[in-house]
Amino acid sequence: MARRTRLILALDTTDQTQAERWAAETASSCDAIKLGLEFTHANGLDAVRALARGRTLFLDLKLHDIPNTVAGAIRALAPVGAAMLTVHAGGGAAMIDAARRAIEDSAGSGSRPLLLAVTVLTSLDAESLHATGVAGGPRQQVLRLARLAMQAGADGVVCSPHEVAPLRDSLGAAPCLVVPGIRPAGAEVGDQRRVMTPSEAARAGADWIVVGRPITGATDPGAAARAIAAELAA
Ligand code: C5P
Repeated sequence: MARRTRLILALDTTDQTQAERWAAETASSCDAIKLGLEFTHANGLDAVRALARGRTLFLDLKLHDIPNTVAGAIRALAPVGAAMLTVHAGGGAAMIDAARRAIEDSAGSGSRPLLLAVTVLTSLDAESLHATGVAGGPRQQVLRLARLAMQAGADGVVCSPHEVAPLRDSLGAAPCLVVPGIRPAGAEVGDQRRVMTPSEAARAGADWIVVGRPITGATDPGAAARAIAAELAA
């Protein structure tokens, strides 16, 4: 069966009222909301839980620390009831393994969040990645980190749209691929570097696309989300 690529709305704001308004305006077109560092640091986990009520939550806190600390953070996040959590793949196999165990322990016999490993941020191009000491290009590094993450127990990875097809070729259909760096044709790229349109990312094999500013920065966020959902469905 053909894969249905679903839409996640990134709510990058500190303003709870604004986040609630964006989520409500786009509810008919978005399959999940993503709350990250900005919203969570400003408002705390109770506010995250309140906004996520009745919605599918991707809690994107990109954890990156020693295994014991990441495992503790994951246990602390369990009551929020997220459907997806992120760690940085660069934290290494032991950290990812500890995260997976903590997710399973905290879930007990109930459903558990998917563990996603962030590979290379979509704001990094070859030059900026090289400056961090990585010798290969983004594609090579994403493939390396994705293999490591999947072997260590991740359910999927966060990658740019440019790495989706190579990842499918190399790792097959199983990994859940969550893909930011999405820009509808003609949209502002902003700080993103490795971008594609929603339909290109869907054709490449993304399970979920993550879209923030092209929706939240639009004069009519509801219409912008509907247009992206229609592009995915076409
Ligand atoms: O506004 P924009 O569509 O660029 O938002 C993309 C979202 O995806 C942001 O919330 C950002 O934190 C997130 N993200 C990303 N690149 C990654 C992982 C997450 O842009 N590698």
